[in-house]
Amino acid sequence: MADKEGIKIEKNYYTDVPFKTNGNFHVKGAANLDWGMKKHLTNIFNPKSGNTVMFAFDHGYFMGSVSGLERLDILIPQLIDHVDVLMATRGALRTCVKPNFRKGIALRVSAGSSMINEDLSHELVSVDVEEAIRMNADCMAVQTFIGADGQLSSIDNLSKVINAGARYSIPTLGVIAVGKNMERTSQYFKLATRIVAELGAHIVKTYYCDDFEEIAAACPVPIVVAGGKKLAEKEALAMAYKSIQGGARGLDMGRNIFQSHHPVAMADAIGKIVHYKYTDKEAWEFFQEKTKSK
Ligand code: R5P
Repeated sequence: MADKEGIKIEKNYYTDVPFKTNGNFHVKGAANLDWGMKKHLTNIFNPKSGNTVMFAFDHGYFMGSVSGLERLDILIPQLIDHVDVLMATRGALRTCVKPNFRKGIALRVSAGSSMINEDLSHELVSVDVEEAIRMNADCMAVQTFIGADGQLSSIDNLSKVINAGARYSIPTLGVIAVGKNMERTSQYFKLATRIVAELGAHIVKTYYCDDFEEIAAACPVPIVVAGGKKLAEKEALAMAYKSIQGGARGLDMGRNIFQSHHPVAMADAIGKIVHYKYTDKEAWEFFQEKTKSK
């Protein structure tokens, strides 16, 4: 097996060399895809910046009504105009989002775990591709548990969704999950992101960590970074900035937006980093300015 004898040469990720095979298309690794795939990816990644602000509020599929998401019908309409993509379950979209909005949709299509399970890694494909088409999904999101008990079934889920999406030109977003006892190391995320990309995912969602630029360089499709647990806004903006500087093509943020006292200002500040090259300091000043009298 490759590398069974150990690594013979030092790795070089060429982090200062831009991705070589993008052609004239703005989404990494997508130059050789067909028109339909490219159209969906363009609904996700802004052609000018090449980046995206996804707003993740799919937590209910395994966490129930988490703090900040108790009333989707009140929260989501406030945020729609301030993000590029809504990442959600079909139930949340149908019930709480008017169909006349013009942003991208990342549809959660895997399920099966919940906070009362000891092991969250066993899921199935809960939404089929015809339903994703009816929902006008721009990509289908599948949880992927590398190194966990449910690895085989989650790779089976991911592969089935990628294969189904290929029939109808709908991209797949592989969501790297981190189990309770797993460490968020660059070694783990390098392994997991590369596996998911090589299996055919068109976008990979993962967490920010040390050596992020190597993870992004070695992943041949765009990485979007999850926010994770709520941080102070200043810290969350710093994490967003480091992610974009490290090669992420967007943020897929949930709790750091919807658990902020100022979710709209937070979404806008993230957008400044993602699309307008703001530093974290400039974005923090922008956030303070927008919230000073509120
Ligand atoms: C988790 O599996 C879900 O996909 C969430 O969408 C994801 O964790 C992003 O949300 P947050 O920024 O709150 O971590």
